[in-house]
Amino acid sequence: MEPLLRVTDLKAYYQTEAYGVSRTVRAVDGVSFDLYPNEIYGLAGESSCGKTTLIKVISGNVKNPLRVVDGDVRFTAEGIDRDLATMTTDELRKTMRWKRISYVMQGSMSVLNPVRRILHTFADIVATHRGISNRKEFRQEISDHVARLGLPSEVLRSFPHQLSGGMRQRVAIALATIFHPNLIIADEPTTALDVVVQRGVLQLLKQIQADSRNTVLLVTHDMAVHANVADRVMIMYAGRIMEEGVTETIFQAPRHPYTKHLIASLPKIGERGARASLPGSPPNLSDPPAGCRFHPRCPAAMDVCRTVVPEMLQLANRHRVACHAVAKEEGIPVPSSDRSITSSSATDLNRAEELQ
Ligand SMILES: Nc1ncnc2c1ncn2[C@@H]1O[C@H](COP(=O)(O)OP(=O)(O)O)[C@@H](O)[C@H]1O
Ligand code: SF4
Ligand SMILES: [Mg+2]
Repeated sequence: MEPLLRVTDLKAYYQTEAYGVSRTVRAVDGVSFDLYPNEIYGLAGESSCGKTTLIKVISGNVKNPLRVVDGDVRFTAEGIDRDLATMTTDELRKTMRWKRISYVMQGSMSVLNPVRRILHTFADIVATHRGISNRKEFRQEISDHVARLGLPSEVLRSFPHQLSGGMRQRVAIALATIFHPNLIIADEPTTALDVVVQRGVLQLLKQIQADSRNTVLLVTHDMAVHANVADRVMIMYAGRIMEEGVTETIFQAPRHPYTKHLIASLPKIGERGARASLPGSPPNLSDPPAGCRFHPRCPAAMDVCRTVVPEMLQLANRHRVACHAVAKEEGIPVPSSDRSITSSSATDLNRAEELQ
């Protein structure tokens, strides 16, 4: 099957300047993965590992100080075959946003106008992106859409502040799906909600995906959500992919030490007391460690990890892992530790400066 979205060696950096000192934050640094039609793909990783930056590029929200330094984001569906990373904001707005790719973010207030009833927010979006030729038909279309998603019809007459957080998030999902996009990106869509409300919102996303067989890119640091919802999961750490696989493999047979840590720190039913935590904290992405970016915290780190970036290994069953220890376990020769390949490749930094 052809991927809907093919991200190849994507590098997206923030170039900031404060008190005369310029800084390059390598938030997404050489990321490659494919999204297929009809799947829920989970993007996991601790806060600040680059998840939101990655989806800013995919959803065409690249604004100063963020720059795409290298790589491409190929979108292929229904006669469109374009590199999103090279499209202008105007082109993206006209051809892709809402209709092909829509975006649900944490806390839905930014998409809901606080002084407009929900129906009017639907009208604003439909009028801008498709046009409304017949008001009666438009009202019927929105009522049907909202009813299909199991939302009460009163929400259309409400103002955002009259709805609960969970209901607002469902409305945001209803808005995001009005044009049946090929890809729905949801960034921490349930993070601000309590567990019971969370379940309802996730159920709605699952139901929409099952009905329309489109692609959902679900971004959350919460591994329990991925375990319940995603078909495949990708784990990021410090701007890089550490591991990717089908959900069962990731949770039942993780190979990367970082993934193992994330899964071991999930609370287990009936267990009391604190769970084991890793020493240290994620690195500063303006000066990330050389070699494997996880090495300062990795219990399995070897000399080679401190100098050589691990290659992405392709294992059986669509499983990919970037780790020298896993390469060793697989009988793949590991490079010697004196081959110094660092993440702070001078070429990328020069390129980032050229683009400034
Ligand atoms: N506007 C910005 N300017 C500079 N650095 C930023 C900006 N936004 C995010 N970053 C940095 O980029 C890195 C990745 O952030 P982000 O993509 O938001 O991570 P996540 O979504 O995984 O929490 C972090 O180090 C963060 O501090
Ligand atoms: S490459 Fe080395 S430091 Fe990185 S996760 Fe594997 S064993 Fe740990
Ligand atoms: Mg984020």
